[in-house]
Amino acid sequence: SDPVPFYGEHQAGIVTPAQDRLHFVSFDVTTKKRAELVDMLQEWTVAAARMTQGKDAGTFGAVGGAIEAPPDDTGEALGLPPSGLTITIGFGPSLFDGRFGLGAKRPAALADLPKFPAEDLLADISGGDICVQACAHDPQIAVHAIRNLARIGFGKVSVRWSQLGFGRTSSTSRAQSTARNLMGFKDGTNNLKLEDAALLRQQLWAAPGDGPAWMDGGSYMVTRKIRMNIETWDRTSLSEQQQIFGRDKGEGAPLGGKHEFDEPDFAAKGADGTPTIAVDAHVRLAHPSSHGGARLLRRGYNYVDGSDGLGRLDAGLFFIAYQRDPRKQFVPIQMELGRTDSLNEYIKHVSSGLFACPPGLRDAGDYWGRTLF
Ligand code: HEM
Repeated sequence: SDPVPFYGEHQAGIVTPAQDRLHFVSFDVTTKKRAELVDMLQEWTVAAARMTQGKDAGTFGAVGGAIEAPPDDTGEALGLPPSGLTITIGFGPSLFDGRFGLGAKRPAALADLPKFPAEDLLADISGGDICVQACAHDPQIAVHAIRNLARIGFGKVSVRWSQLGFGRTSSTSRAQSTARNLMGFKDGTNNLKLEDAALLRQQLWAAPGDGPAWMDGGSYMVTRKIRMNIETWDRTSLSEQQQIFGRDKGEGAPLGGKHEFDEPDFAAKGADGTPTIAVDAHVRLAHPSSHGGARLLRRGYNYVDGSDGLGRLDAGLFFIAYQRDPRKQFVPIQMELGRTDSLNEYIKHVSSGLFACPPGLRDAGDYWGRTLF
């Protein structure tokens, strides 16, 4: 497949049509030296630019360097195409805690997320100073990218947590068909998409005047690992499942509608006077009309981390959403969902991340974090 351009106004991997696979990693910065951190970000940028174009991470490559030295690429992507690889970086709130003199540059929009109803977050798989999202059509390519960045970062960053994902649960372009999540429903139907230029300006990209200039053209990312109680879900009737989302399972149409992209009619009532789309249905509660027009660009993935030793799949949705300001978008939407969503009986949020993803890079002289440091 063709390589995705690495340089541009915005980082790749946000409106890029969602690839099939994810390897997501969150790092803690271990060095105390700002200059070492900046050097590493420069090295990362060079390696990332190369890997997205299907090249080895380093200039000698997996087998071209000195025989007595560790190779500057780990080798598992030798001979493989770029597979649509994108590598997207974000900076977490903890990076602005004063260690690197960045305190004054922390955007107000990067405010710590509040505690939400019914969440059960595990600290060791939440947060982090720097995240990297690698997406590709081939899991080997996504894993290779993260592995090589971790290798380059040795001694300066350490992996805090990471997550593999498959079967994108969102389409981010109208050219893509809508994939399904592990509950079997089409996910991403009413998503923000690449083609919605005016909405992307309004809802996705940080604009001059929003906050510190280093984020102009960037976007804020929220991640939530959401475990599904798959076994209970699988014993729920089809009609109950459809009521929970407010859409039908086959076509993905809003209840009362015919086609996937029909507008949901939240005022419609059945013969007995009950709303066709239940008052606690997921799509009603998450819909922009319930939040003053607020939208998200969802870009999540399914995950199965094996089983949990109790005979249950350890599976769910690794939710990723991009937006211009989480305080106006993710936070109010999740507050409402956490309180009211009938889906809550079948899910549990177990990890959370918040990251400021800077704008795109101009050219080979530019590097991740230049606008910040
Ligand atoms: C819509 C599934 C969590 C926000 C949908 C749809 C499904 C779905 C099937 C309908 C199709 C579509 O328009 O994409 C799930 C599952 C979740 C989950 C299985 C958890 C395991 C969340 C969370 C948020 C969220 C945490 C944000 C806080 C939305 C939004 C829509 C949506 C904004 C579009 C609503 C509309 O405009 O019609 N979700 N979702 N979802 N979901 Fe979720």
